[in-house]
Amino acid sequence: MSRRVQVVIIGAGPSGLLLGQLLHLSGIEAVILERQTADYVLGRIRAGVLEQGTVDVLNRAGAGARCAAEGLVHSGVELAFDGRRHRIDLERLSGGKTVTVYGQTEVTRDLMQARSAAGCETVYQADDVAMHDFDSDMPRVTYTHAGQTHEISCDVIAGCDGFHGISRASVPERSITTVERVYPFGWLGVLADVPPVSEELIYANHPDGFALCSMRSRSRSRFYIQCELDEKVENWSDNRFYDELRNRLDTRAAEALVTGPSLEKSIAPLRSFVAEPMRFGRLFLVGDAAHIVPPTGAKGLNLAVSDVHYLHECLNAFFNDRDGAALEDYSRRALARVWKAVRFSWWMTSMMHRFPDNGAFGQRIQEAELDYLTGSEAAGRSLAENYVGLPF
Ligand code: APR
Ligand code: PHB
Repeated sequence: MSRRVQVVIIGAGPSGLLLGQLLHLSGIEAVILERQTADYVLGRIRAGVLEQGTVDVLNRAGAGARCAAEGLVHSGVELAFDGRRHRIDLERLSGGKTVTVYGQTEVTRDLMQARSAAGCETVYQADDVAMHDFDSDMPRVTYTHAGQTHEISCDVIAGCDGFHGISRASVPERSITTVERVYPFGWLGVLADVPPVSEELIYANHPDGFALCSMRSRSRSRFYIQCELDEKVENWSDNRFYDELRNRLDTRAAEALVTGPSLEKSIAPLRSFVAEPMRFGRLFLVGDAAHIVPPTGAKGLNLAVSDVHYLHECLNAFFNDRDGAALEDYSRRALARVWKAVRFSWWMTSMMHRFPDNGAFGQRIQEAELDYLTGSEAAGRSLAENYVGLPF
């Protein structure tokens, strides 16, 4: 079967779904092809801190109502180190901005619901997705579904298929540059139905490694501790996890920690990765397909959203204003913001974790940096400006 649409979106993660929604509201027709089922996509547990800019785009997409009702607005974060804990007043230091704690899984669910309410098409369990002729004005995407082969001709392909997708892999090697840093540790995460340790997130630097107390709601917590890359989840009973978490927190937080059975426990490696450029003819890379940041700055989803915002603006000008040059702007605009978030995420990661080769000197330098950060208005402003999100 063959047909034609304006835009084919590969991947129904937050990037693909949000782009689909914004395009729909601009009267641009798009089909989403997703390899997995909707339930599988919703089963993935990811970070949960939304910048104000992200919340604004979700609202513009008509998918912000539940986030507005259930999201927790945070005006600060806490940094724990050297047995002490300091609050960074994000709202004051950033000139009035806050972040909203709301799980990425819920963002995805809201976007899926908005898409089906709008009657837009998503093909789940689309196999063997392949893209052709994206160096021409009339690219094509082929796939199989329920045993049938399909072909869609389009004007534009949006590669929203994550780090392991086929979009980036379809670009000839000579046309793409990638840079990468793999960190020598991972995060062991636990989700549990226990109240948060504190009103706000606590990022802890401890000689035994990083720890983070986050949350999904007033009754559900998300905890992380830095671990070895070859660590096995099976070796971490809930009790062992909570003992180690408590060890890495300040006394007040350790005493406030309420423990309970883990609903999920997993290990994730940390990596920084950027592919450049983000456009190849009529193929556009968006979100994790183009870049990965370590989770320390909570930037992954927020960066995907700013990519989508830029691409939507370019596609709107291209289709609705008939501006043929509009497509050329995307990569430059998106990458300028991407690299700043990559820098911030690397910096937070470097400051908060135990690195195998850093020794006592590295630990003391980190503590000096944290002391500076929590004692200097100028340093605090820089952290706050980046954490709440640079403008886009
Ligand atoms: N064909 C079709 N779909 C595919 C293919 C393929 N060959 N490969 C991957 N996909 C789908 C995946 O199943 C997934 O649902 O693409 C989707 C990509 O979604 P994500 O990995 O969530 O990436 P993205 O939408 O860019 O989300 C941004 O922000 O917080 C970070 O990593 C976090 O996922 C999050 C990201
Ligand atoms: C999370 O809640 O999962 C989370 C929060 C902040 C981060 C990373 C993850 O920096």
